[in-house]
Order: sequence, then structure tokens, then C-alpha cells
Amino acid sequence: MKILIAYGTTEGQTRKIARFCADRLIEAGHSVELMRAADAEGLDVGRFDGAILAGSVHIGQYQDDLIRFARGAAETLRLRPTLFLSVSLAAAGDEPDDWKGLQDCVARFCEATGWTPGRVEHIAGAFRFSQYDFFRTWAMRWIAARKGQRVVPGEDREYTDWEALRRLMKDWAESAGRGLSAPAVTARGP
Ligand SMILES: Cc1cc2nc3c(=O)[nH]c(=O)nc-3n(C[C@H](O)[C@H](O)[C@H](O)COP(=O)(O)O)c2cc1C
Repeated sequence: MKILIAYGTTEGQTRKIARFCADRLIEAGHSVELMRAADAEGLDVGRFDGAILAGSVHIGQYQDDLIRFARGAAETLRLRPTLFLSVSLAAAGDEPDDWKGLQDCVARFCEATGWTPGRVEHIAGAFRFSQYDFFRTWAMRWIAARKGQRVVPGEDREYTDWEALRRLMKDWAESAGRGLSAPAVTARGP
């Protein structure tokens, strides 16, 4: 299959996740085009057999460039097997309120873009203290402390489960190949 991966990222973890997904799909024999959503404007999405969109949650929102791209491509995406990867720190935990919040984020994304992904998966992201400014460092240290997470100032901490992501790529590509990815939102969580 020819697969598009378009992503939005603020501190870089979603780019790392998108590259990992691209590598796994290429290993499985697919052809992949990987790009930042900001660079995908005007792209002919009809050239692809399937698409993965990925973005990270920042104060309950995904990146504007991802929203713009999904809105512009919604008509074409709707006709193809698609997967939306929502990257967040809430997905690293098992707080029911946090998971409800993530589902609300996806619902707002669908409403803003007019696109309902064939499948939605929540992926745990990372603390990227190496990328934060002074304000963000303090805000994120406060969040970490509130959640009982131990973080070392200046040190990044990754929660992404790479093995689970590998399995997800295999599973999604197989079902996309069989044309089984029916439009419905599924979200993991308690
Ligand atoms: C300013 C800021 C706000 C964030 N807001 C949320 C949030 O509302 N919910 C959440 O689960 N994670 C939140 N996060 C965590 C990010 O989603 C997480 O760090 C993710 O890995 C970022 O991905 P990126 O590096 O691709 O931007 C926030 C992070 C920052 C720096």
C-alpha cells in the first residue's frame, strides 16, 4: 500500500513516533510518505491507499496545522482506511478523568475538521524538558509532581511504548489492506 503519514508536533515526540511508524510500515513492504502537516497543504491525498495522522495534545488541543490539513483533506480521507494517533501524557496513566478528557479532545478534533478517523489510538508521549522554556519547565514539573511522577530537571522522560506501537502498525496495515477499517472512533482506556 502507499501510505501517507502527516503529523503535528510541538516538542518533537510525535515526529519521533511518526518516523517510527513509517519505518515499521516500510519494513513491512509498504511505500510511505512522511511529512509535517504544515508542509502537506495542497497535497493530493487521493494518491494514497491509506493515511495516518498524528498530533499531540497541548492544553486540550492538537496542532493548528494538523487541524487545517485534516479539514482540507477530510473528503478524501473519509474514503480511505485511516488512523489517528493522539499523543499525550494523559495516555501514560490510567486516570478515568484524564481518559475522558482525551476522548473529548478527539471529539473536538473531529468536529473542527469534519473528519472521523477510521481508528483512533492514544499514545503516551514524553516530558521534553530539553525543549521547554522557563515557564513550561515549571508548569510541567508541577504536573509531574501532581501525578507522582519523578522527573529530573533538564532530563527528558519518555513514556511511549514502542513495542505496542510496532504491533499497532502491523495490525492497522493488515486491516487497512483487507479494507476492514470502517469509520468508527475507538479509544483505549479504562
Ligand atoms: C504546554 C504543554 C501543555 C500540555 N498539555 C497537555 C494536556 O492538556 N494533556 C495531556 O495529556 N498532555 C499535555 N501535554 C503533554 C504533551 O502532550 C506531551 O509532552 C507530548 O509528548 C508532546 O508531543 P510533541 O513533542 O510531539 O509535541 C502538554 C505539554 C506541554 C509542554
